[in-house]
Amino acid sequence: MPDDDQKARLLRTIEYRQKFDERLGQIDQQTPFDSVHGVDTTESVELWELPDAEQTWVGRNARYSPTPVLTVRNALSKCDVKHEEVTFVDVGCGKGRVLLLAGELPFRRIVGVEASEALCAIARSNVEKASEASGGHDRIDVVHADATKFDVPADAGLFYFYEPFSVEVSATVLDRIEDSIRQHPRRVVLCFTGRGQPDGEGTDLEKTPVAAAPAEMRDQWNLVKVVLSPDAEFYDSFLYEYASSPA
Ligand SMILES: C[S@@+](CC[C@H](N)C(=O)[O-])C[C@H]1O[C@@H](n2cnc3c(N)ncnc32)[C@H](O)[C@@H]1O
Repeated sequence: MPDDDQKARLLRTIEYRQKFDERLGQIDQQTPFDSVHGVDTTESVELWELPDAEQTWVGRNARYSPTPVLTVRNALSKCDVKHEEVTFVDVGCGKGRVLLLAGELPFRRIVGVEASEALCAIARSNVEKASEASGGHDRIDVVHADATKFDVPADAGLFYFYEPFSVEVSATVLDRIEDSIRQHPRRVVLCFTGRGQPDGEGTDLEKTPVAAAPAEMRDQWNLVKVVLSPDAEFYDSFLYEYASSPA
């Protein structure tokens, strides 16, 4: 049984998330995406609502919440990559909104990695529906995998992270990306969106997103740009590049 402190913390988290979702709803209304593309990406999902969420994964405090549309378009437009030559990876793709937005750019391939099979199914259905409406999303693949075990594509050149998980998980994902760069030397850019919220109530925004902490601590990664979000300060993006990337 949770004690009174735990209950109070849980209630504060729920209240904070309700307010967060209301704000996100307002932002989303300004740039309608689902109604335009006939998809379902807006509604947030707590992982305990998913039939396949594991206990450890819920404990890491992850949830599905989409990045606002203009934030993604703006951040991706500032990433210095040769689209036709690289695969784009959304690490923790949820319902696949970012995949569809990446599809507006000429990436060679677009891959979403998602630990929940239930969310993967929604993402695949969204890709299918958007393809019917606008034609041609055959460059997009949704992979059901834990990002810490995911096979990094040898041509992956841009990785997108929107607050998908804890520092520990992020460090393991970064290890895999670094292994891949050593095996297949290439330029790689990491885009971390969403500032950390140390107190869980959003009143004291941290400088960088939680998942970016391992990149921040490692010499191999340089912070090359901070892209301010057109939607809200919380959604600012931090771009890192591998230090010894070939031009
Ligand atoms: C905040 S949502 C971001 C969704 C999407 N990238 C976007 O920006 O619209 C984070 C997603 O990461 C997924 N996730 C959490 N831990 C994961 C893991 N270890 N491997 C793969 N996906 C994970 C969650 O299920 C959730 O869908």
